Amino acid sequence: MSGELLIRGGFVIDPDTRFEGVADVLVRDGAIAGVGDFSGTGAAEVIDASGLTVLPGLVDLHVHMRDPGQTWKEDLASVGRAAARGGVTSLLAMPNTAPPADTAERVLDIERRAVREAGVHVYQSASITLGMEGKELVDIDGICGSGALAFSEDGKSVMNPVLMRRAMLKIRERGALICDHCEDIGMVEGGVMNADANAERLGLPGITNSVEDTIAARDVILAAETGARIHLCHCSTAGSAVIVRAAKAAGARVTAEVCPHHFILSSDDIPGDDANFKMNPPLRSAADVKALREGLRDGTFEVISTDHAPHSAEEKAKGFRGSPFGIVGIETSAALTYTELVLPGILTLMQMAEKMSRNPAEILGIPGGSLRAGAPADIAVFDFSNPYRIDPAEFASKGRNTPFAGREVYGRTRLTVAAGKIVFREKT
Ligand code: DOR
Ligand code: ZN
Ligand code: ZN
Repeated sequence: MSGELLIRGGFVIDPDTRFEGVADVLVRDGAIAGVGDFSGTGAAEVIDASGLTVLPGLVDLHVHMRDPGQTWKEDLASVGRAAARGGVTSLLAMPNTAPPADTAERVLDIERRAVREAGVHVYQSASITLGMEGKELVDIDGICGSGALAFSEDGKSVMNPVLMRRAMLKIRERGALICDHCEDIGMVEGGVMNADANAERLGLPGITNSVEDTIAARDVILAAETGARIHLCHCSTAGSAVIVRAAKAAGARVTAEVCPHHFILSSDDIPGDDANFKMNPPLRSAADVKALREGLRDGTFEVISTDHAPHSAEEKAKGFRGSPFGIVGIETSAALTYTELVLPGILTLMQMAEKMSRNPAEILGIPGGSLRAGAPADIAVFDFSNPYRIDPAEFASKGRNTPFAGREVYGRTRLTVAAGKIVFREKT
């Protein structure tokens, strides 16, 4: 039938139906028509997925699109291509653009433009305070009324606890999510990497774990008291794992994410004054990495997101002291997670699919993370059998700032389908 797409004979993992096995996936009119044996079907387009793995398209809850205002770093078209190349079909964009996404109009403008320019599903979060200045709350009712699903002050914390508590009460009333960047700015004191022996060796000012842990603790306490739903961004410390575990045990509505760089690299891996290893929160100690992996394994952390933070080569050429925080990640997250967590047996492939598609979709309250008949046809097909080396020159993102250049991984994206349309296909 015209308009049909058949992805034939791949190893299919569906964290929604829990199906796991070799099957065909039939797409019709932008939706999943079924998972099963469709060998007799005369679909218009047939893609051979034998030897490949078919997952629901990944859902990345933490992306900096840089549009509007910093489009030399990234824009809607380039982030859309990068997402598709990473197997990501839905993303939540952070509001620290220029100007920040602090009104319903700005949120809607980005989402409307993204429909035309990005190719994948883009959800824009709104900032919590006007201009991200930490002084006055945004119009939470108006922003929720326009359909926004999440608020975040990512890039910084709302340092005033009274304001944060009020934001939680209001956002809770509207049923939206708070994505929480936890960082006590008063405790940073010019730090640019983890406070440890490596920082001393490099002669660089350090950022202690308590910079993150104090705000994480504050905000889960506020969430428990207000009933707000909060999602802790980019957890990097052993303390965050302890805090999230305790908060959940106490009944707080808390979820949390870890990014690949934090569960793979420690400050021991920083080769010198190379800003591709500079991000916020920073690479922590080997003991923190171990605790994050354990938290991913035991379900304390239900999401793997990227904190995709593109910067230009010029900006990143200025070393740890002079360059902005942030690394790209949206094109490497699946391969890094598969290679570092699934291959060593820390997560099953099903758990990877949960943490990278099903759970984030559920937390944000969007379709996605499912291959059930009738679900939007958001699909990612990976080759997990053949190793390759990460080469930033191949990135579709404008950002090349990754600490993983040259690293050998398994998991090249072969095909990405968003809303039934092929948005990425590897040239073979
Ligand atoms: O590394 C980071 N980069 N952390 C943040 O919190 C902000 C982000 C950015 O916008 O570049
Ligand atoms: Zn952040
Ligand atoms: Zn971020």
